[in-house]
Amino acid sequence: MCGIVGYTGTRTAAPVVLEGLKRLEYRGYDSAGLAVVNGGLEVFRAPGKIAILERELGSDLPEGTTAIAHTRWATHGAPTTANAHPHADCGGTLALVHNGIIENAGVLRQALTKRGHVFRSQTDTEVLSHLIEENHTKGMPLVDATAEALRGSPLLVAIGNGENFVASDASAVLAHTRSVVYLDDGDIAEVKPTDYRIMDLDAGEKETPVTHVEWDLATIERGGYAHFMLKEIMEQPESVRNTLRGRLLEEEGTVRFGGLNISADELLKVQRIVITACGTSWHSALIGEYMMEELARIPTEVEYASEFRYRNPIVDERTLVIGISQSGETADTLAALREAKRRGARTLGLVNVVGSSIAREVDGGIYLHAGPEIGVASTKAFTSQIVALALLTLKMGRLRALSILQGREVVRALAKLPELVARVLTKAAEVEQIAERLVRAQNVLYLGRGYNFPVALEGALKLKEISYIHAEGYPAAEMKHGPIALIDDLMPVVFIAPKDGVHQKVLSNIEEVKARGGRVIAIVTEGDTALDKLADHRIEIPETLDLLTPVLSVVPLQLLAYYIAVRRGCNVDQPRNLAKSVTVE
Ligand code: G6P
Repeated sequence: MCGIVGYTGTRTAAPVVLEGLKRLEYRGYDSAGLAVVNGGLEVFRAPGKIAILERELGSDLPEGTTAIAHTRWATHGAPTTANAHPHADCGGTLALVHNGIIENAGVLRQALTKRGHVFRSQTDTEVLSHLIEENHTKGMPLVDATAEALRGSPLLVAIGNGENFVASDASAVLAHTRSVVYLDDGDIAEVKPTDYRIMDLDAGEKETPVTHVEWDLATIERGGYAHFMLKEIMEQPESVRNTLRGRLLEEEGTVRFGGLNISADELLKVQRIVITACGTSWHSALIGEYMMEELARIPTEVEYASEFRYRNPIVDERTLVIGISQSGETADTLAALREAKRRGARTLGLVNVVGSSIAREVDGGIYLHAGPEIGVASTKAFTSQIVALALLTLKMGRLRALSILQGREVVRALAKLPELVARVLTKAAEVEQIAERLVRAQNVLYLGRGYNFPVALEGALKLKEISYIHAEGYPAAEMKHGPIALIDDLMPVVFIAPKDGVHQKVLSNIEEVKARGGRVIAIVTEGDTALDKLADHRIEIPETLDLLTPVLSVVPLQLLAYYIAVRRGCNVDQPRNLAKSVTVE
């Protein structure tokens, strides 16, 4: 979290970095600031969104052709001007922006204060400014003084013509260049207008490949939609198609991957799978667990990455540990995968952002190819994750008990998905009308079973993230063990009830809710009339294989959350307190 962008070249730097910063605002928007080399060093900062900083700067932007800028997601210290980055040293000759947490900041701060440094903020970051200042005034060149003081977080150097940039991710610089160099942890970059060099903290200067970014500017803009979230929901037929592209082998009833880096022999040796992730990605992991156990017959567990990494997990060389992450930067997921690797496991990443930290850390991976996801609430990445998990299940299953006929059936169903997702999207206006009725709800319960239990969790998460309505997801039958006490005529209950293996059971659960006066919104299979009398509102989705129903059933729930949040006047793309890329623990 936190977005960083820097520029050095021949243009006036301030508008370039402010423009880049706006593309990184999804990483945090508690405060923003920039520092410009303009003769001396000038620092400008403001609490809140970048627009507020811009308003304060007015039209008279500072001159100077070198600048760094920052948008903050607060960890240490409230989102005030004093805590906004950049942070200067005592002498005001260097300014620093930072992403991450310095865990020993307290001790360092005490020591630096004793040595006469004056702190002006409560942030952990400011200790770095003073540490570098101290090293530099002892005579160390700036690069060495910086190297001595710090350790890393995601950052890239982008190479322009007579100008260079640094940024947290490529979206900040796509308007200017698509050539980037990804830095590894422990790397340090010295960037000048016409030149840059990358050094490893331990091993010195190193050669790093220049990567060409595939995404262009159009893919990271709203393209006529009111919000990124709506655009990304609507893009799902295409994003699902892109996840499938070139991977289905219908004749053989299996799939092929380019970057798995694990041979069929090695895959056969896998005795256990652990899937680890956070947030929405954790929900897709739960669907993956059901798929792997049902079709590939491999014992599979799902762990929150933040739990896995701290609890002495049982993992060895026969365990395949799969990390799922849209951004590829989530600190806990990255650390969990490192821990798994250290214990000898093979690691795979299901990642959307090409070249991200997780993509570079794992032994092999499956890129989602969903395209950039900017809205903080994840939508198209989720459906692509489910599809990627189905592909991997198919691969693992076909190496084991799954017959060619079963394999072909899954391949055919996968190939149809983009068209079916498009069909669900034609229901948007219906969903919008239902949303009207829920705008004033204070609590909403989401219930599903089997493959659609994780969809219930995801539906509830979408609603609470962007509309601030309290929502809970539960396995439908578990409702009897607690949430049923909450049900009255004020409590809307969303049932995900497609015609699958547990359909009858879900119908009984709906009866139980109706008997207590609950208001039922049901996601049902097209043509299923069983719920006509029971449900207050129905939203139909097309029929598909049970394991793929989540790709369709989640779409109306994304739309429902979206329309409710819009009607409540919430900032859909930048919900309060959240950030898209959580690079702190
Ligand atoms: C944040 C985002 C969520 C996302 C989660 C995991 O909480 O707001 O939308 O699901 O991080 O992110 P990842 O990039 O690892 O999938």
